[in-house]
Order: sequence, then structure tokens, then C-alpha cells
Amino acid sequence: MSTPNSSLLPVAHIDEVKAYASSLIRKQGRAASGVLVLYALAGVAALAGPRLLGDIVGAVQKGTTRAHVDRIAMILAGFVLAQAIFVRLARYASSVIAEKVFAELREEFLRKVISLPLSTVERAGTGDLLTRMTSDIDAMSRSVRFAVPETMIAVATAVLTLVAAFVTAPLVALPCLVVFPSLFVATRWYLRRAPQGYLRERRVYSHMFAGITETLEGGRTIDALGLRDKRIRRGDDDVRRAYVAERYTLRLRTLWYPSTETAYVVPVVAALLVGGLLANRGHASLAQVTAVTLYFQQLVDPVDRLLGWLDELQVGASSLARLVGVGRVPADRVATGEQPEGERLRADGVHFAYRAGRDVLHGIDLDVRPGERIAMVGPSGAGKSTLGRLLAGIHGPGEGSVTVGGVPLVDLEIDQLRREVALVTQEHHVFVGSVADNLRLAKPSADDDQLRSVLSSIDALDWVIALPAGLDTMVGSGGLILTPAQAQQIALARLVLADPHTLVLDEATSLLDPRAARRLERSLAAVVEGRTVIAIAHRLHTAHDADRVAVMVGGRIVELGSHDELIAKGGSYADLWASWHGEGPHDSPSSGPVISGPVISGTGVSPSGQHWTPSDSLSHTD
Ligand SMILES: Nc1ncnc2c1ncn2[C@@H]1O[C@H](COP(=O)(O)OP(=O)(O)O)[C@@H](O)[C@H]1O
Ligand SMILES: [Mg+2]
Repeated sequence: MSTPNSSLLPVAHIDEVKAYASSLIRKQGRAASGVLVLYALAGVAALAGPRLLGDIVGAVQKGTTRAHVDRIAMILAGFVLAQAIFVRLARYASSVIAEKVFAELREEFLRKVISLPLSTVERAGTGDLLTRMTSDIDAMSRSVRFAVPETMIAVATAVLTLVAAFVTAPLVALPCLVVFPSLFVATRWYLRRAPQGYLRERRVYSHMFAGITETLEGGRTIDALGLRDKRIRRGDDDVRRAYVAERYTLRLRTLWYPSTETAYVVPVVAALLVGGLLANRGHASLAQVTAVTLYFQQLVDPVDRLLGWLDELQVGASSLARLVGVGRVPADRVATGEQPEGERLRADGVHFAYRAGRDVLHGIDLDVRPGERIAMVGPSGAGKSTLGRLLAGIHGPGEGSVTVGGVPLVDLEIDQLRREVALVTQEHHVFVGSVADNLRLAKPSADDDQLRSVLSSIDALDWVIALPAGLDTMVGSGGLILTPAQAQQIALARLVLADPHTLVLDEATSLLDPRAARRLERSLAAVVEGRTVIAIAHRLHTAHDADRVAVMVGGRIVELGSHDELIAKGGSYADLWASWHGEGPHDSPSSGPVISGPVISGTGVSPSGQHWTPSDSLSHTD
């Protein structure tokens, strides 16, 4: 069976997982050893039972008084009570540790996820990340909360019980040792196969989730392209793979469990038989045989739990491997601490490839003067968005450099990078939380007044105030669902708060419906005010009003200059302009001049029309 995993996120090696787990435990060192002591005390208290019962049997055999038996029974009750108290304390203390460890794990994973290089997330898709965030975290939480402490208790109890049996009557206890080799062999057989089996199970589920997510998100495309049968087949394949993977681990369990069950009964039987023989010959007392038999009976419970949790620990370990693996994605940038001098953004000899050997940018030079407005135009697939992402420091160039104030963008801390240059696209995300929370992501220190003034600057204050709880209204999934235009405005407000000096706009408003777009373009105009702007333009009047126009074709800037210069030059831009102008007036909002791709929602209005859409006429913001 082949499980496709080439595109998924890495999984940590088992050694790394062990190192990580022991570092987690070490961090809790003192508290953990305290818990261990409590469990040991509980274990010792539990050992009194068989011993005292043995004493009663011995005493009755010899002839005793009722008062003596009562006294032993009272002592026994005392130990049982003590055991209950110790167990309760230990459980409480270990739950506290487990919650701490789990919280730390979760936070660390989240930190890793949000600092994942964008290129990696794009490649791995959301399905794998989602599985790791949900079912792997769940599996981990069971391990951390229950499996680890229960395993500790079981081991401590089993060892203490065994020791007690041997101390009570070594000869009677000895025969039980025969079960250990077989138990050991069976368990080792199982443990050798289980981790891979469980990892495969997880991988298969990730793949299945990825498929389902894709199908859901791309439902319309699938219908449009007639891919239904293909998607259904993929779903069937995934289910089949999941079935095979589950069956494999089930087989492991069905072979391993019975072998352990037998191992429980043998020592009890052996102690009774051998003990009986020894007692008959006077090598052991009835009290000893009783005690040891009861010890072995008592051993079943912790060993059974131990093996059960071992299984759970395997699942937990494979989940942890996948969580730790997320941290293994190599960083795509290393902050050097160098500080930019000035705000000049430059690209020098930039080459870039998504796949090795296939450059989509072939040597780009662009020197953006602070305060300048550059419009980037060109056919679809020319590399405009790619260059935009490089200019915003999201990808690092393969060759050449993209610098701000002389420092490569990929040498800056992410936080600092965001204060220099930001990319604005039509994608935006509303996070679960209040409107204020969503805004403060960009600037945690901003107070409500500042938030309000920022909202008002982008013409969004009126609707935010009109929300049921104003700034404190809960939005995002589960809360109020904002319209795409509102969500985009929130994103723009975040941008104002983050306050980068340079913006790269990648067709930021091209997907919105015309009425919303008008308002949004006013907001955008307010945001770009006073900043350096590189606008990837859909429509030619953006270019007309920019300080310079860069025409991109096939991964190269083929023309660069002001509108007038390029018209005078009579090159491809001049041709474009002429052909568009030749079409006559464009007063219908849906017939905007288009440079790249189809107009999805017309916001363009011709220069001869009444209305100027500010995003397409960047300098006209008065
Ligand atoms: N994530 C990606 N992975 C691989 N190839 C990509 C990716 N994004 C874009 N490309 C390719 O890079 C080239 C330039 O694309 P893009 O920068 O989006 O052009 P534009 O924005 O001008 O339409 C195209 O050939 C496109 O197929
Ligand atoms: Mg593009």
C-alpha cells in the first residue's frame, strides 16, 4: 500500500520524540518526583493487604482469639484508607502537572504553526495541519493526561507488589518468573510493529481529511470541471486505505492481548500449586502462600493497565512525532539583527522558482523610491503576484536580493518586516474574537480610542459602532459573520495599525461586488495615503495615474517608466493603452478595461467617466 506523503509536513524521528518527551518531563522534574513518591506510598499501603490477610489465615490455622483477628482487620482498614488518600493526592498532583505539560505543548505547537513558512503551508495544504491540530492534539492530550500518569502508577505498583511477593516467600514467588519471557517477547513483537502501524493510520487520515477539505472548498470547481467521479474515487480510495491501516493495528492488538491475558493467570495458578506443595512439605507457611497468591492476583490489575496504556502511549507517541515534526520545517529566514537605513525598497537581479530549475522570475531589477506609486501590469501568469510576494518578503529570492534600506527582507524579524512592508490581497481572515481583538493583532498596545480613530480613518467606524456590542462584538466562526467587504476593512484597519511604510497591493479589491468595492476603495485610498505603493493593477487607469508603470511579461520587467514615457516609447504598454482607449467610453461599471484576466466584478470606470475609483487612481485621494 502506498500512502502519499511527499507533500505532507515532516514527522519527527523517534529519537527526537524521546528527547522531546524527556525534556518535557525534566522541566517538571521536582513536581514529578513528588508525585512519584506519593504513588510509591500508595503502593506500599496497598501491599499491607495480602500480608495481613495471610497473617489472619496463619493465626486462624494456629488458633487465635477474635480480638486478635479484629485488630488485624482494623490495621488493614487503616492501610486501605491511607492508600486511598495517597492515591487521591497523587492523582490530583499529577493532573496538575499533566495540564501544565499539555498547555505548554499546545502553545508550543500553535507557535510553531503560526510561524510556519508560508511556502510550506501552501505545499502541505490545510488538511494535514488540521489533522495535527485536532486528532493528534486529542491523542496527545489522552496520553499526557491519563496514559503517562497511569503508566507511572502501574509500574510503581507492579514493581512494589513483585518485590513484596519475593520478600514474603521467595520460593513460592519464583515460579511466576516463567511468564516474563513470553510476556516480554509478545510485547516486544507488538511494540516493534505498533508505532509504524499507528503512524500510518494517522497519515492516512491526514490524507483523507485533506481530500475532504479540498472537495468541500472546491465544490463548484469540481462540478464545473466534471471531476465528481474522480473525487468520489479518491474518497473511496482513502476510505479503503484507512480500512487497511486500521485492520493492521487491529490484528496487532488481537494477537497481543490474548497472550498477555494468559500471562496474568499463570502466576496465580503457579503460586497456588507450588505454594501448596511447599506448604505440604513444610517449606512454606499457609500465611506465606496466601499472601503471595494474593499478591499475584493483585499484580494482574497494574500489569493489565500498564499494557493497556502502553498501547495508548504508542498512539500518543506517534501523534507527538507529528507535532514535533511541525517544528522541523526549516525556517525560511534568519534574522541577522541588521537594521535598515531608510525605506528604499530594491530588487536586484532577482530570480525565483517555485520548483527547482523552473524560474518564474528571470532577473528583476526594481528600485522603488520612497513615496512612489508604481503600477505593475502584464498578462496573467507573468509573475506579478510572485514578484509582489517577494517584494513583501514572503518568499526569499532564489538569486539576487530584495532589500529595504539595504537589508535583505528575509534577514528581518517577521515583526519588523511587517512594519516595513505589507502585502494586501483580496484574501482576508476574520479571527474568532471581538472586533477589537481582531484589530489588536496588528498592535496589541492600541487602546479603544486609537482603534476607533483608525476605523474612522478608513470609513468603517459607523458600521462597527452599529454592531450589537460595538468594538466588543464577537466575530468570526461562531460569532457574527462579517461581509467580505467588512472583513476586508478590518484587514485594512490592521494594516493602518501595523503602519508599514510600503504596501504591495495585489488586486486587492478585484473580487468584490461593485457597491462594496466603491466603499472599500475609499478605505484603501485612506490606507495608501502617505505610503509607498506597488499596485499590481487590473485596470489601466491605475497605471495612468501611477508615478511609474512596470510592464511584466514572462517573468521579466520589459518596460519601466511613467505613463507618458511609455506611451511615447510606443512599446507594448502603448499598444495596450491604445487598444483600450480605442474601445470608446466605458461608463458601464462592468466594462472596466482589463489587463490581466477577466473582470470578475467591474469596479473600473474609464478616465472619461464621471467616477474615479481611488484604488485604480492611487494619487486621487483628495
Ligand atoms: N504556488 C505556486 N507554485 C508553483 N507555481 C506557481 C505558484 N504560484 C504561481 N506559480 C507560477 O508562477 C508563474 C507566475 O504566476 P503569478 O506570479 O501568479 O503571475 P501573475 O500574478 O502575473 O498572474 C505562473 O506560471 C504560475 O503558474
Ligand atoms: Mg496574480
